Parts: sequence; structure tokens; C-alpha cells
Amino acid sequence: MAAMPLGGCGDRASTDATVADDAAVAAEPAASAASLAAELGLEAEEVRAILGLGGRLEPLGPEPTNRVATDATAAVLGQRLFFDTRLSGDGSVSCATCHEPGRAFTDGLAIAEGLGTGTRNTPTILDAAHQRWFTWDGRADSLWSQALQPMERPHEMGSTRTGIVRAVLGDPELRREYEAVFGSAPDAAWLENLPERARPVPQAPDDPEAVAWSGLSEGDRLQVDEAFANIGKAMAAYQRRLTGGELPLDRFVRGLREGDRTLTAALDARELAGLRLFVGKAGCIDCHDGPLLSDGEFHAIGAPQVGGGMPSDAGRYLGVDIVKADGFNAASRWSDAPRSERALQTMRLARTPETWGRFRTPSLRQVAATPPYMHAGQLPDLAAVVRFYSTLEGATILDHHQETVLAPLGLDEAEVEALVAFLETLRGEGGDPALLGPPALD
Ligand code: HEC
Ligand code: HEC
Repeated sequence: MAAMPLGGCGDRASTDATVADDAAVAAEPAASAASLAAELGLEAEEVRAILGLGGRLEPLGPEPTNRVATDATAAVLGQRLFFDTRLSGDGSVSCATCHEPGRAFTDGLAIAEGLGTGTRNTPTILDAAHQRWFTWDGRADSLWSQALQPMERPHEMGSTRTGIVRAVLGDPELRREYEAVFGSAPDAAWLENLPERARPVPQAPDDPEAVAWSGLSEGDRLQVDEAFANIGKAMAAYQRRLTGGELPLDRFVRGLREGDRTLTAALDARELAGLRLFVGKAGCIDCHDGPLLSDGEFHAIGAPQVGGGMPSDAGRYLGVDIVKADGFNAASRWSDAPRSERALQTMRLARTPETWGRFRTPSLRQVAATPPYMHAGQLPDLAAVVRFYSTLEGATILDHHQETVLAPLGLDEAEVEALVAFLETLRGEGGDPALLGPPALD
């Protein structure tokens, strides 16, 4: 494992409660635990690394930029909106079209398909609220601002903010819930006068949707944006409740800490051999660390391109620009805490050439349930992923200036199988079944 150029990521931010708690849970194991570790054949260094994985995802902390993040009514409204195809341009796509509850909130496709075909693979939403930056390139700095992006993107849901505000506030049931959470909304006459399709389109000022947007008064635009932001905040309140539940790995880590054999039995001998490779020789833990199995950072690992060739996706390089320019970011007027630490981190971000082609280390908590893999779904299954790390065959750029991030691991067949067996255990027991579809109307 070559040294990793972790410096130069200007956006390192272990703000998450789960990350902050690592130090506490990684303390030395109790004496009874030492004998269990010895029985399992684990070296002291391995024990330390494994305990660093936490043993559970800590409850989410407050999210000051979204004042309704923990509001139960907001979550019900958000749940309804998540499954509502009226929020798309032609009434055929909802968030759940790509984030299907039965597939761990992914779609099983290499590249997402909404009104058109995108360029990236759909990640799970389970436990995503624990992330610091959202999407593969971190183009959103909060869960609520992230939700606004697919709704207006032409190849995803292809709607516009005026269309969405009309759909939500024009529906009596949704309006009732919206007002219960956010207070009184603009009246029906105002809604009727809004253009059906209007949004700012910076690159194409002649676009009819951009023309319609400029035709609105400043006051109307602010009212539309406020309602649009609130819709994102309700969706975030729902998504924060989507957890994948406990992993066998969580039980194993707690068992190792507490010296409890019934808990360490959660992994069999081959899976444990895979975990040892993960934290040891294979060096996976250098990036896939902590309870989320992600450092929340951006790296270029040179994942192969579909059909070969050089990569064209700039990843974090453009992600930084997008999040800084986002009118709904944590520092914007629509944030409920525009001077919070979250906001300051966004303002401090700088785009540097090194960030070209980097993607966020994905969480591996649900990885067994979410094929295919990598930002463009390039690798069909976990065996292909492990073989890639083992040989680096087909690798494209390995970080900027060809600096080596990864070296081929040269795993033998038994090691490949053990590592795959361990990765196959990474699938939660599932969260609350009541969150897997639209809520019943009362
Ligand atoms: C057309 C398919 C599609 C639709 C519709 C869609 N998404 Fe996504 N979602 C994606 C893809 C693809 C990504 C990764 C985007 C990227 O990296 O550029 C993503 C990323 C995300 C993430 C980031 C997860 C993380 O770990 O950072 C969240 C949260 C999310 N979507 C929520 C939503 C919500 C809420 C909606 C509805 C408003 C929605 N999505 C609609 C495909 C879709
Ligand atoms: C240098 C940091 C780093 C190391 C070390 C690393 N990974 Fe990754 N991993 C990443 C990044 C970044 C991605 C996303 C890359 C992309 O999409 O282009 C990723 C993607 C993955 C994925 C795909 C997940 C998904 O949802 O698509 C799996 C599985 C995975 N890694 C497992 C491993 C294993 C197993 C090891 C050890 C053999 C390992 N990783 C080592 C950073 C790392």
C-alpha cells in the first residue's frame, strides 16, 4: 500500500458525530476482551483498527441549517413528496424511481435513468445523512439542498421550481402539512399566476424557463425559492430517518470490545479473514474507516472507465464550484444557520487541480445490496471490485500528476474470496418498514 496523498484536500471535515466519537470507542479493550482477541488470532494492531470501526452508527446530531430536520410532521410530508411523481416535468418520475426502497434505495442500474440518462450511478440513501458532502463529487453541502438538484435537472426529474411549488401548494393535503410545518403559504391566486415552468438557467439565458424566471418580480422569486427550499428541508427530514440498521460487523466490533463471543460469532472464519485483510494487508481502512466505512474524503482511485479510454468526469473539481455557487448552500439566505460551521466549510472550499477526477469514498454499510459499483457503475459485482484493487487492471488516472494512491495488492485467490465474503456481509437488517413507501393518508 503506497502512501496516500491525503494532504491537499482542502475540504477535510470530520464534523460528523460518528466520526468525532471514534476516539472514544477505539479505546483499549477490556481485559476479558484481550483473551477473546487472542482466541480469534487477532494481533493488537488489528484489534485497534477493528475497534476503530465503531460498532454502531451514532444517532445523528442536530443540523442547524435545517430547522425542521428532526420535525416529525416535516418527515411525513417529506416521505409523501419523495414518492410523488407530480414533482417531475412529465409526471412520471419521483425520487423513488431511482432510489427504490426494495433495492436499498438504489436502482440496480450502472447509470441512473430518469427523464433521460445521466452520467453517474445512483448511491443508496440509507444512512446518507451521516455524510458531510453529498453525491459522488460532493456538490451539495446539506441533505436538504441536495434534494433540490435532481428535481430541476432535465435528465433526472426535469421539473422547475415554479412547477414544484405549484404542485405542492396546490394540493390541499400537501398544503395542510406544509403549513403545519412552515407556517402560512402564499395563497391560491398567487399560485395560479406563477408560470408553470420557470427556473434560473445560468448557461442558457435564452431558455424559455430562464426567460419566465426573469419575468417574475424579485418578491415572487424569493417566495418561490423559500417554498422550494422548504420542500427540500421536508425531504431531508424524511431521509434522515432512513437507516439501514445494524450490520454483522457492528455486532462483531462490539463483541470484540466487550469480550462477548455471541457477538463476535456474527462473522464466520472466512468473513473474519476478509475483515483482517480489510484493516491490514489490503489497506481498505485507509479510506473506508469509521462506522460509516468512509473517511468522507475525495480520492482518485483510477476506477476503470466504461469502454476504456481516459476519464472525462472531473468529479470533485467541479463539485467544489457547484457547491460554492449553489444558491441553496449552507451559507445561503435559505439556510437556517448561514454562519454555522457547515456554512464556513463551504465558503472555505477551494478548487485545486489535484481534485480533478476525485470522488467521495462511498460508505460501504449497504454495499452488498447495491450493485453495480463505482461512480459510473463500472464494476458489476464485489468480486470485480476486489480484483480491481488487487491488480489495478484497467486503472485510469491514479490521482493528479500520476501520483500513486494505490498499489496493486496482489491478493491470491483465497484472499480475494475472503475479502469478497466479508464485503458480502455489509448489508443492514433494515430500518423502519413504515418508511419504505408513501405514508397512508389519515
Ligand atoms: C434519475 C435518477 C434519480 C432521481 C430521480 C433522484 N436521484 Fe438522487 N441520486 C441519483 C444519482 C445518480 C446520484 C449521484 C449524483 C451525482 O453524484 O452526481 C444521486 C444522489 C443522491 C443523494 C446523495 C447520497 C449521498 O450519499 O451523498 C441523495 C441524498 C439523493 N440522491 C436523494 C434524492 C432525492 C431526495 C430525490 C428526489 C427529489 C432524488 N435523489 C432523485 C439518482 C437520482
Ligand atoms: C485511497 C482511498 C481508498 C482505498 C485505500 C480503498 N478505497 Fe474503495 N473506494 C474509494 C473511492 C474514492 C471509491 C469511489 C471511486 C469511484 O467511484 O470512482 C471507492 C469505491 C469502493 C467500492 C464501491 C462502492 C460503491 O458503492 O460503488 C467498494 C466496494 C470499495 N471501494 C471497496 C474497497 C476495498 C475492499 C478496499 C481495499 C481493498 C478499498 N475499497 C480501498 C476509496 C478507497
